[in-house]
Amino acid sequence: MQTYTPPPDKSITIRALLLGAIARGRTVVKNPLRSSDTEAALRCLRALGVKIKTAGNSLEITGAGPAGFGPGPFRLDARESGTLARLLAGLLAGSGTAAVITGRGTLRRRPMGPVAAALRMAGADVRAARGRLPLTISPARPLGGTLKFATASAQIKSSLLLAGLGARRPVSFRESAPSRDHTERLLEFMGARLKRSGPRLSAYPGALRGRAMEVPGDISSAAPFIAAALLAGRPLKIKRAGLNPGRLGFVKILSRMGARIKITRAAGKPEPAGDIEISPSELRAARVSAREIPSMIDEVPLLVLLAARARGVTVIKGADELRKKESDRIASTLALLASLGARASYRGGTLTVPGGQAFRPLRPVTTFDDHRVAMAAAAASAACPGLKIKSPGCVDKSYPGFFRDFRRVF
Ligand code: S3P
Repeated sequence: MQTYTPPPDKSITIRALLLGAIARGRTVVKNPLRSSDTEAALRCLRALGVKIKTAGNSLEITGAGPAGFGPGPFRLDARESGTLARLLAGLLAGSGTAAVITGRGTLRRRPMGPVAAALRMAGADVRAARGRLPLTISPARPLGGTLKFATASAQIKSSLLLAGLGARRPVSFRESAPSRDHTERLLEFMGARLKRSGPRLSAYPGALRGRAMEVPGDISSAAPFIAAALLAGRPLKIKRAGLNPGRLGFVKILSRMGARIKITRAAGKPEPAGDIEISPSELRAARVSAREIPSMIDEVPLLVLLAARARGVTVIKGADELRKKESDRIASTLALLASLGARASYRGGTLTVPGGQAFRPLRPVTTFDDHRVAMAAAAASAACPGLKIKSPGCVDKSYPGFFRDFRRVF
């Protein structure tokens, strides 16, 4: 059977770098992702005075300690990384550092109001200019407390948890739907105290200890290969993929649709990882609830492609958050389908995808500078030979070698 190993996880790499930067002692991040988003994280941390060196396939961070960045003000460029901008805002608020976070390209259009508002609720002084970048962080130590606030965004949750490390009192809030818990796992792995009771999550003030950890493969980078294998009816074994439950929504829904997927778990700390084997399968339609969206937020375009070929009508609820990604991913996914001569409809947050549609390369796909759309278009090409993709270079954000790897496998 054909095998494929995805690149290291973007979400985990960025978190490991940020947490290593405020830890006491040395953090070794083995198998980190090197992409434009993670390079932006390295540059921001170096601008804050953090020492990071490359040693073989690892990054070694000499932690600055909880308040070790100095008072600032710093000017930090998150480039196009939303995860970096939002998590860094919480980290800086918690460490009492004055900074302005700027960004470029697609990130300048993305909402920063919600993360700034959440951090202000925790008593930090963080402002977004008209709801967008730049984010301005003043060096007031957050008060913490029990917030009347709920979020389904892993980025906002993480930002609050990081601010909580440096707050006067624990920061406590609710998750309105479960999302990836990479930050929680890493925080506990590095000695932080968290408490979970049902949907309520609390982070206690405290210092982190530097540690060594290994980054597993990125399931969101593997997802276009899973989709292409199913679209092309080809078996594929994906090796050493991250299996964080908050990232497995796509795989779970595909299993519900009748996909034959076998997962073999290996031991892993702080993150679970393992192999995923996909066998050719006939898919039927699914109903996806709003609560499931955070666990597959970056895979919805792929699910729509597979649903368009499945038997029956697929309904995906609560998809509105997709409009706030690198592109308006509802519009770009509908445009991708139109390039394939297929269709779906979107109303009131619900995507309805009729199945049994044939794909044909009607016109080149526009990526809207969105890496996930470019990768979804490549996956579609597995069932649509001759499909062309305009401006595919945006894949560098999370997966610089994507097209080389894709051509090797398909
Ligand atoms: C991410 C969380 C998701 C996801 C993004 C990465 C993270 O965003 O879309 O690609 O690393 O926490 P939201 O949590 O804002 O939905």
